[in-house]
Amino acid sequence: MASRGGFNSKIGFILAAAGSAVGLGNIWQFPFEVQAGGGAAFVFIYLAFSFILCFPVMVTEIAIGRKTQKNPVGAFKELGYKKWSIIGLMGVISGVLILSFYNVVAGWAFGYFLEMIQGNFGIGDRFTQFTSSEIGRVSLYGIIFMGMTAFIVSKGISGGIEKAAKFLMPTLLIMIIGLTIYGLTLDHAFEGVKFYLVPDFSKVTGSVIYNAMGQAFFSLSLGMGALITYGSYVDRKENIVSSAAYITLADVGIAFCAGLLMFPLVSFMNAGNMDNVQGGAGLIFATLPGVFETFTGPGGVIIGSLFFLLLCFAALTSTVSLLEVPVSYVVDEFKVQRKTTVWIIAIVIFIIGIPSLLSKGASDFFSTSFITYDGGSMNTDFMNFIQKLANDTFLPFGGCLITFFGAWIWKKKNLNEELAQGYPGYRGSFVEKYINFAVGFLAPAVLAVVFVLIVLSSFFDINVV
Ligand code: TRP
Repeated sequence: MASRGGFNSKIGFILAAAGSAVGLGNIWQFPFEVQAGGGAAFVFIYLAFSFILCFPVMVTEIAIGRKTQKNPVGAFKELGYKKWSIIGLMGVISGVLILSFYNVVAGWAFGYFLEMIQGNFGIGDRFTQFTSSEIGRVSLYGIIFMGMTAFIVSKGISGGIEKAAKFLMPTLLIMIIGLTIYGLTLDHAFEGVKFYLVPDFSKVTGSVIYNAMGQAFFSLSLGMGALITYGSYVDRKENIVSSAAYITLADVGIAFCAGLLMFPLVSFMNAGNMDNVQGGAGLIFATLPGVFETFTGPGGVIIGSLFFLLLCFAALTSTVSLLEVPVSYVVDEFKVQRKTTVWIIAIVIFIIGIPSLLSKGASDFFSTSFITYDGGSMNTDFMNFIQKLANDTFLPFGGCLITFFGAWIWKKKNLNEELAQGYPGYRGSFVEKYINFAVGFLAPAVLAVVFVLIVLSSFFDINVV
């Protein structure tokens, strides 16, 4: 098994897995979900889901990975449940789908970084034009981003993924803390913080609750075996439970920080008026350049470039984890050479992502009216459709099956045995009891319900709650 490689240290694994978790989900998506979901009311629900529900799922994924030292498909086979490896296959497919559109957005972030360096703040107003008419450039950015991802993954686990995470994650942390502190010193920062941290419970509807759950799940990289894969490179002497706790804390902490950065910036630009803030994808790509433009002196260029560099770093450690899933599957199961495999898969995923690339106005066919759900009431573009399908549908379903499998098919006894390795006090502890309850009952049940609600609401416009 030595040829598969592995993480050199516990901190290397934690940084890589936290790198997978911290991504566009935290910095691009989280703030606008907060905005739609009633500020702190959403944050509170999000935190509860992360620690109570998602954390045990994470522990299960890592345990399955480490026990088997295999990719998500091979892992189920290795445990002797060949039929269940379909969950792993679904995970590999989800990973491919997610990376295909995720890389497009990462490419935008990279393009914006280049614009900010040159002081082209007008790009914010041109966001729609950027994604529709400047498609040559946008494609190039996507190719470069996928290239960087493939380069890191091709270097293997310790020499590529771990090494990159050890540089990117601490730098990211310094950047986000620095930017947040800077943002808090701006005029009207307080109104932004207030908007973020004063809960508005009137906005909490059923869909806000399960969006919070979906967001937490996506943000922690759960439900598709990304952490089975990373877990397969972890040494037996490491404590899985404490590692997972650090990963969860890092992810939640950085998402929290991203909100604390975003809202003061927006409030500064609007002189404290938070009523008509643009939500959705535009919150970062359309609004922020305008904020940076108002900074005097070189401030705009510096802060703007740092912000989008931060976004690129966050995205890169995530795209790396997404690519590693299909790569480990193909390398383990078909016994092929890693380097070539990485580049071939990266190219294939880039090609699968072309419709997403074209779906923001460049091609009429893939754009807004690409697909219509529910008799015409919901039109959406290709990228949103894939996002709904993979993030909101496959991930909760995958998570439900993985936890059900862990507790009832593989059995809690084996799960606990694996978790006790590297964690001497685990047996008989409260942590053990909680994990058994969460993995055995809470997570599969809640995830099944969320899955059904999301399918009904997203694809049939039936809102049960
Ligand atoms: N968690 C990342 C983010 O927040 C995205 C991501 C990377 C992911 N790997 C994943 C999501 C695996 C689900 C599964 O941006």
